[in-house]
Amino acid sequence: MSAAERATAAHRSRWGDPDFVARAPGRVNLIGEHTDYNEGFTLPMALPFDTAVAFSSDGDQRAGPATIASAGFGEIVIDPNGDPASVASWARHLAGVISLLAEHGVPTGGWRAAVDTDIPTGASLSSSAAIEVAAITALLHRAGVTWEPIDVARLGQRVENEVVGLPSGIMDQFISAGAVEGHASLMDCRHLTLTPAHMPADAVVAVMDTGTRRVLADAAYGDRRAACERVVAELGIASLRDATPATIAAVMDPVDRRRAHHVVTENQRTVDAAAAMGAGDVVELGRLMTESHESLRHDYEVSGPGLDAIVQVAHGAPGCLGARMTGGGFAGCAVALVRADDADRFGRDVVDRYDHDGLRARIWICSPAAGASVLGTA
Ligand code: GLA
Repeated sequence: MSAAERATAAHRSRWGDPDFVARAPGRVNLIGEHTDYNEGFTLPMALPFDTAVAFSSDGDQRAGPATIASAGFGEIVIDPNGDPASVASWARHLAGVISLLAEHGVPTGGWRAAVDTDIPTGASLSSSAAIEVAAITALLHRAGVTWEPIDVARLGQRVENEVVGLPSGIMDQFISAGAVEGHASLMDCRHLTLTPAHMPADAVVAVMDTGTRRVLADAAYGDRRAACERVVAELGIASLRDATPATIAAVMDPVDRRRAHHVVTENQRTVDAAAAMGAGDVVELGRLMTESHESLRHDYEVSGPGLDAIVQVAHGAPGCLGARMTGGGFAGCAVALVRADDADRFGRDVVDRYDHDGLRARIWICSPAAGASVLGTA
């Protein structure tokens, strides 16, 4: 059963039929890591894993409570006029959406929802962005309002930054809201555009779960972002998007210089990767992904032992064209580009040979999915 079907069933058993189901996907980023908050480029795609919100209106749409039953976490009642920071941490993304969307005049009270997901949490597949985007999509739909994906994404990012307290970029929410089925998208995080890029037929994307989960990554994320900001101030430029390897060489602090070197070279790799994808050059695309991993490992220092282990195993597996960590880093999932004909053998081989801390790998061969949408009820 899909997340949407499970959420629908849960809503039915508590409250009867939902009015509709809103869904939003998780994502895997093919290349372009820690570039989004530097006004750079990323190349993510939406995954065929959703978070689903089975929704029905109930009571006063301005002031009435929202009752949310989550498959993983239990039930919570959120006061639309309350402080989102006061709710249990698992529900803060939802409380943030309720609070910030109301600032735009969208009624955010008076509803009930059952929430379920296919996206593992802490696995670098953007489960947080998916719940934000799914909830925004649901509340806009009820209000009869349509927003552009970038506006949905911006609100989700504000929830993350202002309510959850993570200074993340726009990538996760933007791809969850705006992805096009069958395509990855080159995201320009300065001009806030998505340009769909067709996945060549002879390669597939393998998402590889190390079984490790993120701990303490939030402090490290802020630390890396601060390093980028220091370099921008030192060089007197608008953002690292405007830097080159030559300008970066002048940065005084050696650690900050390495951080900036990653961002500058990663931006170029990402633009090159989109071009390689457009030209159907899967060998070049894979090579760039592998180079990205090395840069994240040495210059940005956001990889982790499980991620390095699975990337190394992937390189020795049949049909591997390239492999890298994906998302914020430290733990969770990695991604590989694999020759389509070898996909099954690749998956079996990685599962057989990956061995980190007694954990087992899980592999999903994924086609790019569509961005958030509203489904009727079954
Ligand atoms: C997390 C953040 C994104 C992005 C990535 C790293 O997923 O939410 O905004 O910065 O890390 O590329």
